Order: sequence, then structure tokens, then C-alpha cells
Amino acid sequence: MAVERVGIVGSGIMGSGIAEVAAKAGLDVVLRSRAQSSADAMIAGLEKSLGRQVERGKLEEAERDAVLGRVRAVTDLAELADCDLVVESIIEDLAAKKHLFNELDRICRDDTILATNTSTLPVVEMAMETGRPDRVVGIHFFNPAPMMALVEVVRCITTSDATADSARSFAEECGKHAVLVRDQAGFIVNALLFPYLNNAVRLLDAGVASRDDIDAAMKGGCNFPMGPLELLDLVGLDTSLAILDALYAEFRDPNYAPAPLLRRMVSAERYGRKSRQGFYDYRK
Ligand SMILES: NC(=O)c1ccc[n+]([C@@H]2O[C@H](COP(=O)([O-])OP(=O)(O)OC[C@H]3O[C@@H](n4cnc5c(N)ncnc54)[C@H](O)[C@@H]3O)[C@@H](O)[C@H]2O)c1
Repeated sequence: MAVERVGIVGSGIMGSGIAEVAAKAGLDVVLRSRAQSSADAMIAGLEKSLGRQVERGKLEEAERDAVLGRVRAVTDLAELADCDLVVESIIEDLAAKKHLFNELDRICRDDTILATNTSTLPVVEMAMETGRPDRVVGIHFFNPAPMMALVEVVRCITTSDATADSARSFAEECGKHAVLVRDQAGFIVNALLFPYLNNAVRLLDAGVASRDDIDAAMKGGCNFPMGPLELLDLVGLDTSLAILDALYAEFRDPNYAPAPLLRRMVSAERYGRKSRQGFYDYRK
């Protein structure tokens, strides 16, 4: 099915980024936030992001206006009824996502594809909350969505060929490279990335090296664009903890057991950039 109108649920880091990507690809976007203040903040953030691209000469002013014209921010989930595809990008919590899939199934057209941007959670459990498990799929973008080239298309046991094909075509229309992966915690990227990030927190906690030296070592020694602690702050420490908990629950591999310091930082509401405090301080 050709996707022309996309619904996005959740206006956090990822929901806003996916909205920008889809609107720039020429699709109509309906972005649902729970609160009007978040919907307004999302539009303001999009204006700022596109404005920066105009300043740098990467986007024409007319194109910026056209992209903004294609995004509608709403608070009522019922506004997504007529979308061809809905991508949910709410908190990484299985109970919340299952509840949402149940609601979307009731609200959306029978042929609407329902997708999740989950980083690790079982897509099949969301699919089974609906009466259309063949039309549920994972479409996993990376952070920041407008910049990162990859999308993982996550096919669960119930996903039909047609749904997986539509998800791949949507990702490609958004200018992304799509890889196909089975519904197993962490998919490809996070299954490989998170033991590394987790072990960086353990090194820090054990006093083996300082925050700055751990990050400098991985940038200088492996040519990574960011150090692991900087990257955790970008991803969000709450989201990172949820990812590790899900990986550990699935595999019981000690490499996935979240470092105690990570859990303590989340308890202290130090979520990284989004709360302006994490391994680094962003308050100045
Ligand atoms: N942060 C990343 O690097 C990254 C990358 C890829 C995928 N993801 C996935 O994207 C999803 C969103 O992550 P994010 O980084 O944008 O998080 P975020 O914390 O920035 O945003 C989460 C959004 O969910 C909303 N929310 C919270 N509880 C809710 C509920 N019960 N019902 C509806 N909405 C609720 C919040 O208001 C917020 O708008 C998660 O599934 C995450 O695993 C994150």
C-alpha cells in the first residue's frame, strides 16, 4: 500500500524527528501529543530545525513553508483515523504501548498499518493487542531521525509480506536505508550497541577512568563520532535503562544487566540531554 498520510504518536525526541523526516519526504503528517503544550512545542521545534537548515543554505524558504504546511499537531487520537500508516513513538514501556495499539486498532481504518518505533520491545505483543496482527510491524528509526541513515524494519511472526514491503517502501521514501530484522530484543543495532554502552558505565562506576577519558578513548581509539557516555545522554538514560531491562529479560545475558549507576541516575531524574543533566551537565 502506498503511504500518503502518516500518523505519529508521541512528540518526544524521536516522534518529532520522524515527523520532520516524513514531512520532508512529501507526506502529510498528523502528530499526536497528549498535551497541547507539547504539540505547540513540537511545531516550534520543527520551525527551529527547518529554520537552521534554511540559514545553512540546505533548504529553500518555500520548501520550509511547504514542509511546515504538511504537519498538523493534534491532541485527539481519533484524528489519526484516516492515516495509511501510524508510527507510535511513545515511552519505551510495553504496557503503555499495548494499551495504545488497542486504542489505535479501534480508531484507525481497517487497512491502516500500525507500526512501532520501539528499540527493543516485542512487536508481536503489540500486534496481538489488535484485530490486525498481520498489519503490525516495527519501523525503528535512529536518533536524530533526520540525520541517521538507517531504519530497521522489524518483522514479527504475524507480519504479512505486504506489510513488511510497505514498511520498507515507507522507510526508503523517507530517504533511509532499510534493513530487515526478526522480532528479537535489540534487533541488530541495539543488541550489539548496548553491551558496549553498559560496560562504559561500569568502567566509570569502577573508577577505571574518568568520564572524559572514557569518551575520548572511544572517539580517538575507535574513530567513533561520540563517546559512549555522550551517546547515552543523547539516547536518554531512561530509554537506555528500559532497553537494557528488555534485553536482559529476553536473554539473561549478564552483559545486558543494567549497570547500577545507570539505574541510580534514572532514579535521580538525570535522563541526559532531555532533562539537561546526565553524565554531562547541559544547564549552562
Ligand atoms: N532516544 C533514542 O535514541 C531512540 C532511538 C530509536 C527509538 N527510540 C524509541 O522511540 C520511542 C520514544 O523514545 P524517545 O527517545 O522519543 O522518548 P522521549 O522520552 O523523548 O518521548 C516519549 C514520549 O512519550 C510520551 N509518553 C509517555 N508516557 C506515555 C503514555 N503512557 N502514553 C502516551 N504517550 C506517553 C511522552 O510524553 C513523550 O512525548 C521509544 O520506544 C524508544 O525506545 C528511541
